[in-house]
Amino acid sequence: MKTAYFGRRYMLSASHRLHSDALSEEANRATYGKCNNPFGHGHNYVIEVLVGGPVDDETGMVINLATLDEVVQTSVLARFDHTNLNSDPLFVNQVPTTENLCRETFRILRDALPKGQLEYVRVEETENNFFQYSGN
Ligand code: NI
Repeated sequence: MKTAYFGRRYMLSASHRLHSDALSEEANRATYGKCNNPFGHGHNYVIEVLVGGPVDDETGMVINLATLDEVVQTSVLARFDHTNLNSDPLFVNQVPTTENLCRETFRILRDALPKGQLEYVRVEETENNFFQYSGN
């Protein structure tokens, strides 16, 4: 039974261009606007990770902060930080919108953390925009 939650925030800087090969140039511009600029643009994303589970009797923790940091660093930040998201294999066949970045980050962390611990990943793209994913 899940009884407690632990959340932590990470910074991730990356660039992307929103462009779908399935759409015409005109449709891409109409759909993505200035985010379709061929030269791309960057974001300082905030990745928020929420983990849930029982509080361990011995450690008094839901998850060891150092363990979570290690998993996020090696599986997410080392992969995406200061990169062009469009060049990552995950985004060859899907547009690197922040929805998709959020979903892929969730999937990576879900598989890297102990089973059932990850509750959701939330990605803040700007001060006003955020995306959250808790599915599969
Ligand atoms: Ni953008």
